[in-house]
Amino acid sequence: SLPNNVTIIEVGPRDGLQNEKKEVSTKNKLAFIHALQAAGIEEMEITSFVSPKWVPQMADANEIVKEVHKQGRQIVLTPNSKGVERALSAGANSVAVFVGVSNSFNLKNINKTTTQSMQDLKPVIAELKQQGIFVRACISTAFYCPYEGKIDSKDTLALCKEFANWGVDELSVADTIGMANPQESYELFSLLNREIPQVLMNAHFHDTRKMGLANIYAALLAGVTRFDTSAGGLGGCPFAPGATGNVATEDVVNMLHNMRVNTGIDLNKLCEAVSIIAPHVSRPIDTGMFRLYELN
Ligand code: HMG
Ligand code: MG
Repeated sequence: SLPNNVTIIEVGPRDGLQNEKKEVSTKNKLAFIHALQAAGIEEMEITSFVSPKWVPQMADANEIVKEVHKQGRQIVLTPNSKGVERALSAGANSVAVFVGVSNSFNLKNINKTTTQSMQDLKPVIAELKQQGIFVRACISTAFYCPYEGKIDSKDTLALCKEFANWGVDELSVADTIGMANPQESYELFSLLNREIPQVLMNAHFHDTRKMGLANIYAALLAGVTRFDTSAGGLGGCPFAPGATGNVATEDVVNMLHNMRVNTGIDLNKLCEAVSIIAPHVSRPIDTGMFRLYELN
């Protein structure tokens, strides 16, 4: 059966914009973030403290953290201890770390093997937890890797368990290239929820093959009540060739509300937020609910 409430973690300002070719100004990013907050988004990845040489679009992370309205939970993504240092000195109180189950993907994305990343992250997470910071661990290529193909769910489970043992608050388990199907979504999330009941479990689907909504429905049936989504369906990882954006927040919210699952989000205001960022991104926004909003 379906839950009464679902939490949406909006990742548009981070996953949505990190790969955007046009330079989006800090002012426009903040307008987007604040419109999302006004629509009722309570948890959001607002930026990332990564190398500006690797990801130029996120070079203004410091200003974003300083200027954003402190409302709900604002999460920043960090790849290493330098990123965490920058995040904390900007005043962030929720941090996401990220690592790929696939070694080949992790090398492309962070320039380290998965094992090296985990060795580096262990003391970083211990320090963050000691300081009372909310820690989220993002697990990339949990289903498929653009370089290695199908990933064994035992490997995904092992990595998730390791983070859980280190005391992270939340796991965000990602279909990085949008290749999973609903059966795989149901099976992996059933396994993870059964084996790791002590952490918040999020599903993060990219919508490359338009299976995002179906995968969310399957994950809901497997007991997941937290989903990472991107307003306007923006985004994609620069180091995952061919992958498109996350499943669109407005389409997910519409599906959930139609099934009488609450999100606390105002769909019309959410589409207003999409209309604020739409002129500043290079790809046309083509989500079901945004198209209907523009017709009215
Ligand atoms: P590297 O070149 O191996 O780094 O990059 P390094 O440690 O050798 O340092 C090189 C230079 O970068 C040094 O500066 C460092 O200080 C600097 P220099 O001495 O040359 O002036 N540096 C940094 N600067 C700012 N912030 C930092 C930082 N770290 C080092 N944190 C590195 C390694 C990890 C930095 C690089 O590979 C990187 O930034 N990668 C990030 C890639 C990324 O952002 N990917 C997208 C996010 S993940 C994602 O989208 C997936 C997700 O959505 C889930 C899913 O869908 O799968 C989460
Ligand atoms: Mg992603």
